[in-house]
Amino acid sequence: MADVMVSRHPLVLTKLAMLRDQRTNSKIFRELVGEITQFLMYEATSDLGLVECTVQTPLAPYAGHQLREQIGLIPILRAGLGMVEPILDMIPTAHVWHLGLYRDHETLQPVSYYNKLPPQTNVDVCLVLDPMLATGGSASAAVTVLKQWGVKRIKFLGLIAAPEGVALMQREHPDVPLHLAAIDERLNDIGYIVPGLGDAGDRQFGTY
Ligand code: PRP
Ligand code: URA
Repeated sequence: MADVMVSRHPLVLTKLAMLRDQRTNSKIFRELVGEITQFLMYEATSDLGLVECTVQTPLAPYAGHQLREQIGLIPILRAGLGMVEPILDMIPTAHVWHLGLYRDHETLQPVSYYNKLPPQTNVDVCLVLDPMLATGGSASAAVTVLKQWGVKRIKFLGLIAAPEGVALMQREHPDVPLHLAAIDERLNDIGYIVPGLGDAGDRQFGTY
């Protein structure tokens, strides 16, 4: 079964309440998405491999470290876009590959509309980025694409999940750890997370 990590960090919890608040405007919403993402990324990257490297300080040589693995960031368009820059600020060598998926409003099934992954994989570890894990259909479809691309290690970073989405990921991708800021109560009858935050794409980009 997939590891499910739900942050209990006090700063994540306070930022999450601000993010959910319907009075929060798009500018602040985007900032909060970025800040919470950085906390989740910090935990999700704690097992990355290192190689030793020597640097010269002004006083002496120093035996230090650099990342061994090539990191791939996979934002699911469009709401995942807001999670990219905050991670690139910390891991500037990461590659970014966009996957376009939207949820059909009637069936709630993911529909793929953009995928430009090259034929051969060029990353070792992929972080799939999407603020919302609702039914789990979009995240699961994205992970399936990455596995077909040949990626061996995949992690999912999301801000708010529904129990249904967590269960689907555990069933379909038990090897993919989930790094979350919250697991909410349920999905409503139109597939929105309750209490949730509404539509993460619309709230980030002002498209109500
Ligand atoms: C939202 C969200 C996820 C998906 C989650 O995207 O950002 O990608 O729904 O739902 P699921 O777990 O049931 O698949 P949406 O389809 O609204 O597209 P958008 O980001 O372009 O607004
Ligand atoms: N997508 C969102 O943006 N919000 C939800 O609650 C569910 C799917």
